[in-house]
Amino acid sequence: MVKLHNLYFKPFISESEIQETVARMTKEIADDIGDEIPVFVGILNGSFMFVSDFVKKFPKPCEVTFIKLASYEGLKSSDDIKRLIGITQDLTGRTVVILEDIIDSGKTLGEVHRIFENEKVKELRIATLFYKPEAYKKDYKIHYVGIEIPNKFIVGYGLDFDGLGRDLPEVYQLKTTQHMINIVLFGPPGAGKGTQAAFLKEKYDLVHISTGDVFRNNINNETALGMLAKSFMDKGELVPDQVTIDMLSNEVEKNADAKGFIFDGFPRTDAQAKALDDLLESKDSEISAMIALEVDDEVLVKRLLERGKTSGRTDDADENIIRNRIQEYYKKTAPLKNYYSAQKKYFGVDGIGNIEAITQRLSNVINKL
Ligand code: IMP
Ligand code: MG
Repeated sequence: MVKLHNLYFKPFISESEIQETVARMTKEIADDIGDEIPVFVGILNGSFMFVSDFVKKFPKPCEVTFIKLASYEGLKSSDDIKRLIGITQDLTGRTVVILEDIIDSGKTLGEVHRIFENEKVKELRIATLFYKPEAYKKDYKIHYVGIEIPNKFIVGYGLDFDGLGRDLPEVYQLKTTQHMINIVLFGPPGAGKGTQAAFLKEKYDLVHISTGDVFRNNINNETALGMLAKSFMDKGELVPDQVTIDMLSNEVEKNADAKGFIFDGFPRTDAQAKALDDLLESKDSEISAMIALEVDDEVLVKRLLERGKTSGRTDDADENIIRNRIQEYYKKTAPLKNYYSAQKKYFGVDGIGNIEAITQRLSNVINKL
């Protein structure tokens, strides 16, 4: 991913695909033109890389020149096209091939045709490396197209976003989900984390990553990381944070286009929280909030005992065990509360009431992120 100004772009067309396309276009055009020496006219600024690679690959003698037009502002094609440098040589009787980096609405192409109206060229052909058919609104014939692309903003290989990105040798596409909502969901046993995670996941289109599930899946599917984790567990040792982080990293990567993640069961220590921050930073993202469901101990005990009657979970049947688990939770999470508070990312939410009311309270926090 690359960040230009305030926006994120993801890899879209590789350098090798671009180079193959340029090579193919040179052959096609060389075949069509025959023995004449063509004049290639690049449209600055965007076409400088394309023109450079194109003429290097063009198998026959040719001439190269440029005209300079400016139309785009930010992410939008504007109506007002400025003619900054026009034709500076006599093109009478010549075969001219326009080399465009990209044809979008076709306004620039319209201006090119106006420029050539009074030139007595033998022939005017249009070649463009990238073409957005859904955006094109004109009737001018486009003789050669490198790659047709969807109507989304791209940068790289000469194309810029407000001045940046022209230098990239490959092409990137504007990320559709710019901003991820990444939540660490916390709550003592019985607080209703699982229930709420399921609702939030639906409501905000998030991916729920429960560390317990990730562990079980890796071990069941005998992945390399799963086997590594198991080797520690079999020895009765804690699985090193890095192994867990590597598993989470895989999950995040598998869902690269996600609108965000709900982390459940992780982090449990400061070191893990730091590792998670690093992981997300490497994906150009970050934790948006740690949300903790706050439920009074006595209510938790009651809820869990109630659940124990039907769930068959032995750890839900004994009041002492339940109280211990709750104590454990507070001991473990206290440092994390501080960690996220220091980043102003800690939010406590009242976890008592009916399910919808609690979901609403969680939503109030998320909507403000
Ligand atoms: P048109 O005049 O709308 O066809 O747009 C052509 C010009 O707009 C190109 O020469 C580029 O300078 C610019 N442009 C169009 N689409 C993109 C894009 O996706 N990224 C960067 N520049 C673009
Ligand atoms: Mg251009």
